[in-house]
Amino acid sequence: MAAAECGGGSPAAAAAAEFTAAEIEYVSYGGEHHLPLVMSLVDDELSEPYSIFTYRYFVYLWPHLTFLAFHKGKCVGTVVCKMGDHRGTFRGYIAMLVVIKSYRGRGIATELVTRSIRVMMESGCEEVTLEAEVTNKGALALYGRLGFIRAKRLYRYYLNGVDAFRLKLLFPRPDPALLSANKDGRHKQHAENSAESSPIYI
Ligand SMILES: CC(C)(COP(=O)(O)OP(=O)(O)OC[C@H]1O[C@@H](n2cnc3c(N)ncnc32)[C@H](O)[C@@H]1OP(=O)(O)O)[C@@H](O)C(=O)NCCC(=O)NCCS
Repeated sequence: MAAAECGGGSPAAAAAAEFTAAEIEYVSYGGEHHLPLVMSLVDDELSEPYSIFTYRYFVYLWPHLTFLAFHKGKCVGTVVCKMGDHRGTFRGYIAMLVVIKSYRGRGIATELVTRSIRVMMESGCEEVTLEAEVTNKGALALYGRLGFIRAKRLYRYYLNGVDAFRLKLLFPRPDPALLSANKDGRHKQHAENSAESSPIYI
């Protein structure tokens, strides 16, 4: 199964919707009734065409890694992810991320991605990766703010001929020396300080 790609759609202005952050409800994938909502958002906004088999692959195997954002019953954003072994690493992968235009710039994508990363982290992932078009300034800024680094440039990665950046977020590994020192409490304060200064935001 080829990995899905996170190619950004074409930019267009849209009148901003009126809502408060508290009105946005976030839910994980709840079954077949959510599938057309996810498909419609992604098909409208991402440049890569996906078949229904690709969507099913993700949502059937990792329903807890797909999240949808709703405003008053309307689906306004989604993130679709997976996780598993990859070359000796247990890693998470963000395949698709979309927020509809009139709801952008209010933190909905950040919340969707944060929720999926939290599940990956709690499931033992060591890192999270994704690809984004090198021209997708919004996505690159969003992931950069979340601590992702540009690990690689992939030449003509997308069907539209655009290059991609592979982005990577590394989770801190527990330091064995600190763990054993903590057993007798000697370096407890040091460990707390290390955790506080971690670049991971979650
Ligand atoms: C990318 C996308 C998901 C962002 O959704 P969003 O809900 O507007 O994102 P957020 O509000 O959580 O943005 C968080 C941060 O990302 C950055 N960002 C998001 N969109 C940006 C843009 N168009 N230009 C510059 N920075 C942007 C900003 O740093 C922003 O923080 P700020 O608002 O405090 O400055 C949305 O624009 C989208 O659906 N685009 C089309 C599909 C796409 O490109 N998906 C990503 C594929 S990898």
